Amino acid sequence: MTSRLVPEATAAGFATNQVQHGFTPGAAPRTAVPAIHQTAAYEFASLAEAADLFALRTPGIIYSRNASPTQTILEERVAALEGGTSAVAVASGQAAVAMTILALAGRGGHVVAAHQLYGGTIDLLQDTLDDFGIPVTFVDQDDADAWRAAITPQTRMLFAESVANPIAQVLDIRLVADIAHAAGVPLVIDNTVGTPYLVRPGEHGADFVVHSATKFLAGHGTSLGGVVVDQGSFDFGAEPERWPQFTRPFPRFGDLVLWERFGIGLAFAVLVRSKYVHDLGPSLSPFNAWQILQGIETLDLRVARQSASALDLARHLAQHPAVARVHHPGLAGNPWQPLAERYLPRGVPSVFSFDIAEAGADAGDDVDRVARVIDGLQVFRLVANIGDARSIVAHPASMTHSHMSADQLRAAGISQRTIRVSVGIEDPADLIADLDDALAVLVSTPAGAGHEDIGHYA
Ligand SMILES: Cc1ncc(COP(=O)(O)O)c(C=O)c1O
Repeated sequence: MTSRLVPEATAAGFATNQVQHGFTPGAAPRTAVPAIHQTAAYEFASLAEAADLFALRTPGIIYSRNASPTQTILEERVAALEGGTSAVAVASGQAAVAMTILALAGRGGHVVAAHQLYGGTIDLLQDTLDDFGIPVTFVDQDDADAWRAAITPQTRMLFAESVANPIAQVLDIRLVADIAHAAGVPLVIDNTVGTPYLVRPGEHGADFVVHSATKFLAGHGTSLGGVVVDQGSFDFGAEPERWPQFTRPFPRFGDLVLWERFGIGLAFAVLVRSKYVHDLGPSLSPFNAWQILQGIETLDLRVARQSASALDLARHLAQHPAVARVHHPGLAGNPWQPLAERYLPRGVPSVFSFDIAEAGADAGDDVDRVARVIDGLQVFRLVANIGDARSIVAHPASMTHSHMSADQLRAAGISQRTIRVSVGIEDPADLIADLDDALAVLVSTPAGAGHEDIGHYA
Protein backbone atom coordinates (compact mmCIF):
# COMPACT_ATOMS: atom_id res chain seq x y z
CA MET A 1 0.00 0.00 0.00
CA THR A 2 2.96 2.34 0.40
CA SER A 3 4.38 4.24 -2.53
CA ARG A 4 7.97 4.04 -3.64
CA LEU A 5 10.39 6.37 -5.29
CA VAL A 6 10.60 5.95 -9.02
CA PRO A 7 13.84 4.21 -10.03
CA GLU A 8 16.25 6.43 -11.93
CA ALA A 9 15.00 6.91 -15.48
CA THR A 10 17.03 9.78 -16.76
CA ALA A 11 19.66 7.67 -18.55
CA ALA A 12 17.24 6.35 -21.15
CA GLY A 13 15.56 8.40 -23.87
CA PHE A 14 11.93 9.52 -23.74
CA ALA A 15 10.73 6.87 -26.20
CA THR A 16 12.62 4.11 -24.40
CA ASN A 17 11.06 5.11 -21.09
CA GLN A 18 7.67 5.26 -22.80
CA VAL A 19 7.91 1.59 -23.73
CA GLN A 20 10.02 0.07 -20.97
CA HIS A 21 10.16 2.01 -17.74
CA GLY A 22 8.76 0.39 -14.62
CA PHE A 23 8.40 -3.13 -15.99
CA THR A 24 10.99 -5.89 -15.64
CA PRO A 25 10.29 -8.76 -18.01
CA GLY A 26 11.05 -12.21 -16.73
CA ALA A 27 9.35 -11.90 -13.38
CA ALA A 28 7.10 -14.92 -12.87
CA PRO A 29 5.30 -15.92 -15.05
CA ARG A 30 7.64 -14.18 -17.51
CA THR A 31 5.08 -12.08 -19.35
CA ALA A 32 6.69 -10.06 -22.12
CA VAL A 33 4.46 -7.04 -21.56
CA PRO A 34 2.75 -5.81 -18.39
CA ALA A 35 -0.05 -8.08 -17.22
CA ILE A 36 -3.46 -7.07 -15.94
CA HIS A 37 -3.65 -8.04 -12.28
CA GLN A 38 -7.40 -8.44 -12.09
CA THR A 39 -7.77 -9.17 -8.42
CA ALA A 40 -9.40 -7.08 -5.72
CA ALA A 41 -6.89 -8.04 -3.04
CA TYR A 42 -3.53 -9.65 -2.37
CA GLU A 43 -2.72 -12.52 -0.04
CA PHE A 44 -0.28 -12.03 2.82
CA ALA A 45 2.37 -14.59 3.71
CA SER A 46 1.70 -14.09 7.40
CA LEU A 47 -0.18 -11.89 9.82
CA ALA A 48 3.09 -10.15 10.67
CA GLU A 49 3.55 -9.21 7.01
CA ALA A 50 -0.02 -7.91 6.83
CA ALA A 51 0.46 -5.78 9.94
CA ASP A 52 3.68 -4.27 8.55
CA LEU A 53 1.98 -3.38 5.27
CA PHE A 54 -1.04 -1.82 6.96
CA ALA A 55 1.19 0.28 9.23
CA LEU A 56 3.27 1.55 6.26
CA ARG A 57 6.34 -0.11 7.79
CA THR A 58 7.07 -2.00 4.57
CA PRO A 59 6.06 -1.19 0.99
CA GLY A 60 3.70 -3.49 -0.85
CA ILE A 61 0.24 -3.94 -2.25
CA ILE A 62 -2.71 -4.82 -0.04
CA TYR A 63 -5.87 -4.09 -1.97
CA SER A 64 -6.72 -2.74 -5.43
CA ARG A 65 -8.43 0.38 -4.09
CA ASN A 66 -4.95 1.75 -3.37
CA ALA A 67 -2.71 0.07 -5.92
CA SER A 68 -2.14 -2.87 -8.23
CA PRO A 69 1.05 -4.09 -9.92
CA THR A 70 -0.31 -2.90 -13.29
CA GLN A 71 -1.01 0.51 -11.80
CA THR A 72 2.46 0.66 -10.24
CA ILE A 73 4.06 0.24 -13.67
CA LEU A 74 1.87 3.04 -15.01
CA GLU A 75 2.78 5.31 -12.09
CA GLU A 76 6.49 4.70 -12.51
CA ARG A 77 6.29 5.22 -16.26
CA VAL A 78 4.40 8.51 -16.10
CA ALA A 79 6.70 9.76 -13.32
CA ALA A 80 9.69 8.90 -15.50
CA LEU A 81 8.23 10.69 -18.53
CA GLU A 82 7.55 13.81 -16.43
CA GLY A 83 10.97 13.62 -14.75
CA GLY A 84 9.30 13.18 -11.35
CA THR A 85 10.09 11.08 -8.30
CA SER A 86 6.76 9.36 -7.56
CA ALA A 87 3.20 9.25 -8.84
CA VAL A 88 -0.29 8.09 -7.95
CA ALA A 89 -2.75 6.92 -10.59
CA VAL A 90 -6.49 7.22 -10.01
CA ALA A 91 -9.80 6.66 -11.77
CA SER A 92 -9.94 9.90 -13.80
CA GLY A 93 -8.24 13.21 -14.38
CA GLN A 94 -10.91 14.84 -12.26
CA ALA A 95 -9.98 12.53 -9.37
CA ALA A 96 -6.27 13.31 -9.83
CA VAL A 97 -6.98 17.05 -9.56
CA ALA A 98 -9.33 16.58 -6.60
CA MET A 99 -6.95 14.29 -4.65
CA THR A 100 -4.06 16.69 -5.26
CA ILE A 101 -5.96 19.73 -4.03
CA LEU A 102 -7.34 17.90 -0.99
CA ALA A 103 -3.88 16.66 -0.02
CA LEU A 104 -2.26 20.09 -0.38
CA ALA A 105 -5.03 22.39 0.82
CA GLY A 106 -6.60 20.35 3.60
CA ARG A 107 -9.44 22.04 5.49
CA GLY A 108 -9.37 25.83 5.16
CA GLY A 109 -6.59 25.96 2.60
CA HIS A 110 -7.06 28.44 -0.22
CA VAL A 111 -6.31 27.86 -3.90
CA VAL A 112 -5.32 30.45 -6.49
CA ALA A 113 -6.15 29.16 -9.96
CA ALA A 114 -6.10 30.43 -13.53
CA HIS A 115 -9.38 31.50 -15.14
CA GLN A 116 -8.26 29.52 -18.18
CA LEU A 117 -9.08 25.97 -17.09
CA TYR A 118 -11.07 22.95 -18.24
CA GLY A 119 -14.71 23.56 -17.17
CA GLY A 120 -14.84 20.48 -14.94
CA THR A 121 -11.90 21.78 -12.92
CA ILE A 122 -13.69 25.09 -12.48
CA ASP A 123 -16.81 23.23 -11.28
CA LEU A 124 -14.70 21.28 -8.80
CA LEU A 125 -12.97 24.37 -7.44
CA GLN A 126 -15.78 26.88 -7.26
CA ASP A 127 -18.55 24.51 -6.27
CA THR A 128 -17.61 21.21 -4.62
CA LEU A 129 -14.30 22.12 -2.98
CA ASP A 130 -15.77 25.42 -1.86
CA ASP A 131 -18.54 23.41 -0.14
CA PHE A 132 -15.79 21.55 1.72
CA GLY A 133 -14.19 24.78 2.96
CA ILE A 134 -11.48 25.11 0.32
CA PRO A 135 -12.08 28.50 -1.35
CA VAL A 136 -10.62 29.50 -4.70
CA THR A 137 -9.62 32.80 -6.28
CA PHE A 138 -9.42 32.81 -10.08
CA VAL A 139 -6.94 35.07 -11.87
CA ASP A 140 -5.89 35.76 -15.44
CA GLN A 141 -3.00 33.36 -15.96
CA ASP A 142 -0.97 36.00 -17.81
CA ASP A 143 -1.26 38.60 -15.04
CA ALA A 144 1.67 38.20 -12.64
CA ASP A 145 0.37 40.92 -10.33
CA ALA A 146 -3.02 39.23 -10.10
CA TRP A 147 -1.38 35.93 -9.04
CA ARG A 148 0.63 37.76 -6.35
CA ALA A 149 -2.34 39.81 -5.13
CA ALA A 150 -4.59 36.76 -4.78
CA ILE A 151 -2.22 34.92 -2.41
CA THR A 152 -3.26 35.01 1.26
CA PRO A 153 -1.72 33.42 4.38
CA GLN A 154 -4.15 30.50 3.83
CA THR A 155 -3.06 29.85 0.23
CA ARG A 156 -1.65 26.36 -0.20
CA MET A 157 -1.11 26.11 -3.95
CA LEU A 158 -1.27 27.85 -7.32
CA PHE A 159 -2.96 25.87 -10.10
CA ALA A 160 -2.96 26.27 -13.89
CA GLU A 161 -2.82 24.29 -17.13
CA SER A 162 0.43 24.26 -19.13
CA VAL A 163 -1.65 24.79 -22.27
CA ALA A 164 -5.23 25.72 -21.46
CA ASN A 165 -8.26 23.86 -22.76
CA PRO A 166 -9.86 25.05 -25.11
CA ILE A 167 -8.16 28.30 -26.25
CA ALA A 168 -4.58 26.95 -26.04
CA GLN A 169 -3.17 29.85 -24.02
CA VAL A 170 0.38 28.84 -23.11
CA LEU A 171 1.31 29.43 -19.47
CA ASP A 172 4.54 31.15 -18.47
CA ILE A 173 5.27 28.28 -16.10
CA ARG A 174 8.53 29.71 -14.76
CA LEU A 175 6.91 33.05 -13.94
CA VAL A 176 4.06 31.47 -11.97
CA ALA A 177 6.40 28.96 -10.29
CA ASP A 178 8.59 31.80 -9.05
CA ILE A 179 5.54 33.61 -7.66
CA ALA A 180 4.39 30.43 -5.89
CA HIS A 181 7.80 29.73 -4.40
CA ALA A 182 8.24 33.33 -3.21
CA ALA A 183 5.01 32.78 -1.24
CA GLY A 184 6.20 29.38 0.08
CA VAL A 185 3.59 27.32 -1.78
CA PRO A 186 3.84 24.77 -4.62
CA LEU A 187 2.78 25.20 -8.23
CA VAL A 188 0.50 22.45 -9.57
CA ILE A 189 0.25 22.16 -13.34
CA ASP A 190 -2.35 20.22 -15.29
CA ASN A 191 -0.28 18.96 -18.23
CA THR A 192 -3.10 17.05 -19.94
CA VAL A 193 -3.07 19.14 -23.12
CA GLY A 194 0.68 19.78 -23.02
CA THR A 195 1.73 16.12 -22.60
CA PRO A 196 5.21 15.27 -21.26
CA TYR A 197 6.39 14.79 -24.84
CA LEU A 198 5.85 18.47 -25.64
CA VAL A 199 6.52 20.08 -22.24
CA ARG A 200 7.71 18.88 -18.84
CA PRO A 201 6.44 21.49 -16.37
CA GLY A 202 8.79 20.20 -13.66
CA GLU A 203 11.74 21.45 -15.71
CA HIS A 204 10.29 24.95 -15.44
CA GLY A 205 9.57 24.99 -11.72
CA ALA A 206 6.24 23.15 -11.29
CA ASP A 207 6.19 20.97 -8.17
CA PHE A 208 3.26 18.67 -8.98
CA VAL A 209 1.95 17.69 -12.40
CA VAL A 210 -1.52 16.25 -12.94
CA HIS A 211 -2.94 14.50 -15.97
CA SER A 212 -6.20 13.35 -17.30
CA ALA A 213 -4.66 10.12 -18.60
CA THR A 214 -7.95 9.65 -20.45
CA LYS A 215 -6.62 12.01 -23.14
CA PHE A 216 -3.23 11.80 -24.85
CA LEU A 217 -1.66 9.25 -22.50
CA ALA A 218 -4.34 6.61 -23.15
CA GLY A 219 -4.71 8.12 -26.58
CA HIS A 220 -7.52 6.03 -28.08
CA GLY A 221 -10.61 7.27 -26.28
CA THR A 222 -11.20 3.97 -24.51
CA SER A 223 -10.39 4.45 -20.83
CA LEU A 224 -10.61 6.98 -18.05
CA GLY A 225 -7.68 7.56 -15.74
CA GLY A 226 -5.70 10.26 -13.98
CA VAL A 227 -2.21 10.62 -12.57
CA VAL A 228 -0.49 13.05 -10.24
CA VAL A 229 3.30 13.22 -10.33
CA ASP A 230 5.47 14.63 -7.54
CA GLN A 231 8.51 16.36 -9.02
CA GLY A 232 10.39 15.99 -5.74
CA SER A 233 11.04 19.73 -5.56
CA PHE A 234 8.77 21.06 -2.84
CA ASP A 235 10.06 20.97 0.73
CA PHE A 236 7.11 20.69 3.11
CA GLY A 237 9.62 20.60 5.96
CA ALA A 238 10.77 24.18 5.32
CA GLU A 239 7.67 25.58 7.07
CA PRO A 240 6.37 22.66 9.12
CA GLU A 241 3.51 24.59 10.74
CA ARG A 242 1.99 25.30 7.35
CA TRP A 243 1.93 21.64 6.32
CA PRO A 244 0.73 19.64 9.37
CA GLN A 245 -0.50 16.79 7.14
CA PHE A 246 3.18 15.98 6.49
CA THR A 247 4.93 17.15 9.62
CA ARG A 248 2.65 16.11 12.49
CA PRO A 249 2.12 12.56 13.75
CA PHE A 250 -0.45 10.69 11.66
CA PRO A 251 -2.65 8.86 14.21
CA ARG A 252 -3.98 6.21 11.84
CA PHE A 253 -0.41 5.05 11.17
CA GLY A 254 0.72 4.86 14.78
CA ASP A 255 1.75 8.52 14.89
CA LEU A 256 4.17 8.13 12.05
CA VAL A 257 5.35 11.49 10.63
CA LEU A 258 5.16 11.25 6.83
CA TRP A 259 7.88 13.82 6.25
CA GLU A 260 10.31 11.99 8.54
CA ARG A 261 9.53 8.54 7.21
CA PHE A 262 9.19 9.23 3.47
CA GLY A 263 10.60 12.73 2.89
CA ILE A 264 10.82 14.90 -0.16
CA GLY A 265 9.54 13.37 -3.39
CA LEU A 266 7.57 10.54 -1.78
CA ALA A 267 5.57 11.74 1.25
CA PHE A 268 2.96 13.44 -0.95
CA ALA A 269 2.24 10.21 -2.89
CA VAL A 270 1.90 8.28 0.37
CA LEU A 271 -0.58 10.84 1.72
CA VAL A 272 -2.64 10.83 -1.49
CA ARG A 273 -2.74 7.04 -1.69
CA SER A 274 -3.06 6.11 1.96
CA LYS A 275 -5.53 8.77 3.01
CA TYR A 276 -7.44 10.35 0.15
CA VAL A 277 -7.66 7.51 -2.40
CA HIS A 278 -8.04 5.00 0.43
CA ASP A 279 -10.87 6.97 2.09
CA LEU A 280 -12.70 8.40 -0.92
CA GLY A 281 -12.11 5.48 -3.30
CA PRO A 282 -11.50 6.87 -6.82
CA SER A 283 -9.41 3.84 -7.76
CA LEU A 284 -8.01 3.03 -11.17
CA SER A 285 -9.06 -0.38 -12.43
CA PRO A 286 -6.19 -2.68 -13.42
CA PHE A 287 -7.71 -2.96 -16.90
CA ASN A 288 -7.71 0.81 -17.39
CA ALA A 289 -4.16 1.03 -16.06
CA TRP A 290 -3.16 -1.51 -18.70
CA GLN A 291 -5.02 0.34 -21.47
CA ILE A 292 -3.26 3.57 -20.54
CA LEU A 293 0.10 1.79 -20.55
CA GLN A 294 -0.65 0.54 -24.08
CA GLY A 295 -1.46 4.08 -25.14
CA ILE A 296 1.69 5.57 -23.65
CA GLU A 297 3.87 3.29 -25.75
CA THR A 298 3.01 5.39 -28.82
CA LEU A 299 2.64 8.79 -27.13
CA ASP A 300 5.51 10.54 -28.94
CA LEU A 301 4.51 9.18 -32.37
CA ARG A 302 0.89 10.21 -31.99
CA VAL A 303 1.53 13.59 -30.44
CA ALA A 304 4.14 14.55 -33.05
CA ARG A 305 1.75 13.66 -35.87
CA GLN A 306 -1.28 15.27 -34.24
CA SER A 307 0.66 18.42 -33.53
CA ALA A 308 1.89 18.72 -37.14
CA SER A 309 -1.60 18.05 -38.54
CA ALA A 310 -3.13 20.59 -36.16
CA LEU A 311 -0.75 23.30 -37.34
CA ASP A 312 -1.70 22.55 -40.97
CA LEU A 313 -5.38 22.78 -40.06
CA ALA A 314 -4.90 25.98 -38.07
CA ARG A 315 -3.09 27.62 -41.01
CA HIS A 316 -5.85 26.52 -43.35
CA LEU A 317 -8.62 27.79 -41.07
CA ALA A 318 -6.84 31.13 -40.67
CA GLN A 319 -7.35 31.73 -44.40
CA HIS A 320 -10.96 30.59 -44.44
CA PRO A 321 -13.61 33.24 -45.17
CA ALA A 322 -16.05 31.73 -42.64
CA VAL A 323 -13.51 31.86 -39.81
CA ALA A 324 -12.91 35.01 -37.78
CA ARG A 325 -10.09 33.89 -35.52
CA VAL A 326 -7.94 30.83 -34.91
CA HIS A 327 -6.66 30.33 -31.38
CA HIS A 328 -3.48 28.39 -32.09
CA PRO A 329 -0.20 29.52 -30.53
CA GLY A 330 1.79 28.13 -33.46
CA LEU A 331 0.42 30.89 -35.69
CA ALA A 332 2.26 34.16 -36.16
CA GLY A 333 0.57 36.95 -34.24
CA ASN A 334 -1.06 34.70 -31.67
CA PRO A 335 -0.46 36.36 -28.27
CA TRP A 336 0.98 33.14 -26.82
CA GLN A 337 3.31 32.34 -29.73
CA PRO A 338 6.44 33.60 -27.92
CA LEU A 339 5.61 31.39 -24.93
CA ALA A 340 4.93 28.46 -27.27
CA GLU A 341 8.39 28.92 -28.79
CA ARG A 342 9.93 28.94 -25.33
CA TYR A 343 8.01 26.09 -23.70
CA LEU A 344 6.93 23.93 -26.65
CA PRO A 345 9.92 23.61 -29.01
CA ARG A 346 8.73 20.21 -30.27
CA GLY A 347 5.34 21.53 -31.36
CA VAL A 348 2.12 23.02 -30.10
CA PRO A 349 -0.59 20.64 -28.82
CA SER A 350 -3.30 19.50 -31.21
CA VAL A 351 -6.14 20.91 -29.08
CA PHE A 352 -7.08 24.40 -30.20
CA SER A 353 -10.13 26.46 -31.10
CA PHE A 354 -11.47 28.74 -33.78
CA ASP A 355 -14.31 31.25 -33.89
CA ILE A 356 -16.66 31.28 -36.84
CA ALA A 357 -17.17 34.66 -38.47
CA GLU A 358 -19.79 36.99 -37.06
CA ALA A 359 -23.14 36.80 -38.83
CA GLY A 360 -25.11 39.51 -40.54
CA ALA A 361 -28.43 40.52 -38.94
CA ASP A 362 -30.49 37.98 -40.92
CA ALA A 363 -28.09 35.03 -40.71
CA GLY A 364 -29.46 33.43 -37.52
CA ASP A 365 -27.94 33.33 -34.06
CA ASP A 366 -24.38 32.26 -33.37
CA VAL A 367 -25.26 28.94 -31.77
CA ASP A 368 -27.49 27.95 -34.72
CA ARG A 369 -24.70 28.74 -37.12
CA VAL A 370 -22.15 26.80 -35.04
CA ALA A 371 -24.60 23.88 -34.96
CA ARG A 372 -24.92 23.90 -38.74
CA VAL A 373 -21.15 23.63 -39.06
CA ILE A 374 -20.71 20.95 -36.40
CA ASP A 375 -23.66 18.87 -37.59
CA GLY A 376 -22.24 18.95 -41.11
CA LEU A 377 -18.93 17.32 -40.14
CA GLN A 378 -18.39 13.73 -41.27
CA VAL A 379 -14.81 12.89 -40.21
CA PHE A 380 -14.59 15.01 -37.05
CA ARG A 381 -16.77 13.52 -34.31
CA LEU A 382 -18.87 15.54 -31.87
CA VAL A 383 -17.55 14.09 -28.62
CA ALA A 384 -16.76 15.50 -25.17
CA ASN A 385 -13.16 14.35 -25.19
CA ILE A 386 -9.71 15.38 -26.43
CA GLY A 387 -6.44 13.64 -27.16
CA ASP A 388 -8.09 10.73 -28.97
CA ALA A 389 -6.67 9.11 -32.11
CA ARG A 390 -9.94 10.28 -33.72
CA SER A 391 -10.46 13.94 -34.55
CA ILE A 392 -13.07 15.54 -32.34
CA VAL A 393 -14.97 18.82 -32.16
CA ALA A 394 -16.89 20.37 -29.31
CA HIS A 395 -18.74 23.59 -28.59
CA PRO A 396 -17.29 24.61 -25.21
CA ALA A 397 -19.99 27.22 -24.42
CA SER A 398 -22.76 24.61 -24.54
CA MET A 399 -20.73 21.53 -23.57
CA THR A 400 -17.52 21.31 -21.52
CA HIS A 401 -17.65 24.91 -20.25
CA SER A 402 -21.44 25.33 -20.11
CA HIS A 403 -21.51 25.81 -16.31
CA MET A 404 -19.45 28.96 -16.55
CA SER A 405 -20.97 32.44 -16.35
CA ALA A 406 -20.77 34.85 -19.28
CA ASP A 407 -17.98 36.70 -17.47
CA GLN A 408 -16.05 33.50 -16.85
CA LEU A 409 -16.39 32.47 -20.49
CA ARG A 410 -15.10 35.88 -21.56
CA ALA A 411 -12.17 35.64 -19.12
CA ALA A 412 -11.28 32.24 -20.57
CA GLY A 413 -11.46 33.62 -24.13
CA ILE A 414 -14.50 31.50 -25.11
CA SER A 415 -17.42 32.87 -27.10
CA GLN A 416 -20.62 31.34 -28.48
CA ARG A 417 -18.83 31.23 -31.85
CA THR A 418 -15.91 29.15 -30.52
CA ILE A 419 -15.46 25.60 -31.78
CA ARG A 420 -12.81 23.41 -30.12
CA VAL A 421 -10.95 20.84 -32.19
CA SER A 422 -8.79 17.96 -31.04
CA VAL A 423 -6.89 16.73 -34.06
CA GLY A 424 -6.43 12.98 -34.41
CA ILE A 425 -4.12 10.84 -36.52
CA GLU A 426 -6.26 10.65 -39.67
CA ASP A 427 -4.99 11.95 -43.03
CA PRO A 428 -4.74 15.74 -42.69
CA ALA A 429 -6.20 16.20 -46.19
CA ASP A 430 -9.40 14.41 -45.12
CA LEU A 431 -9.68 16.62 -42.04
CA ILE A 432 -9.22 19.82 -44.03
CA ALA A 433 -11.77 18.69 -46.63
CA ASP A 434 -14.24 17.85 -43.86
CA LEU A 435 -13.91 21.30 -42.26
CA ASP A 436 -14.18 23.00 -45.65
CA ASP A 437 -17.35 21.08 -46.50
CA ALA A 438 -18.95 21.89 -43.15
CA LEU A 439 -17.93 25.56 -43.16
CA ALA A 440 -19.34 25.97 -46.68
CA VAL A 441 -22.80 26.47 -45.16
CA LEU A 442 -21.57 29.77 -43.73
CA VAL A 443 -19.76 30.96 -46.82
CA SER A 444 -23.05 31.11 -48.73
CA THR A 445 -24.32 33.66 -46.15
CA PRO A 446 -21.18 35.53 -45.22
CA ALA A 447 -22.78 38.88 -44.34
CA GLY A 448 -20.26 40.65 -42.16
CA ALA A 449 -17.95 37.65 -42.48
CA GLY A 450 -15.00 38.17 -40.30
CA HIS A 451 -11.27 37.81 -40.55
CA GLU A 452 -11.20 40.53 -37.95
CA ASP A 453 -7.92 39.08 -36.74
CA ILE A 454 -6.77 37.27 -39.82
CA GLY A 455 -4.01 39.77 -40.41
CA HIS A 456 -2.34 38.54 -37.26
CA TYR A 457 -2.50 34.91 -38.24
CA ALA A 458 -0.79 34.68 -41.59
C1 LIG B 1 -7.27 19.73 -19.00
C2 LIG B 1 -8.14 18.69 -18.35
N1 LIG B 1 -7.93 18.35 -17.07
C3 LIG B 1 -8.69 17.42 -16.45
C4 LIG B 1 -9.74 16.81 -17.10
C5 LIG B 1 -10.58 15.81 -16.37
O1 LIG B 1 -10.20 14.53 -16.80
P1 LIG B 1 -11.18 13.25 -16.79
O2 LIG B 1 -12.21 13.48 -17.82
O3 LIG B 1 -10.24 12.13 -17.08
O4 LIG B 1 -11.76 13.16 -15.43
C6 LIG B 1 -9.99 17.13 -18.43
C7 LIG B 1 -11.13 16.49 -19.15
O5 LIG B 1 -11.53 16.91 -20.20
C8 LIG B 1 -9.18 18.10 -19.08
O6 LIG B 1 -9.38 18.44 -20.35
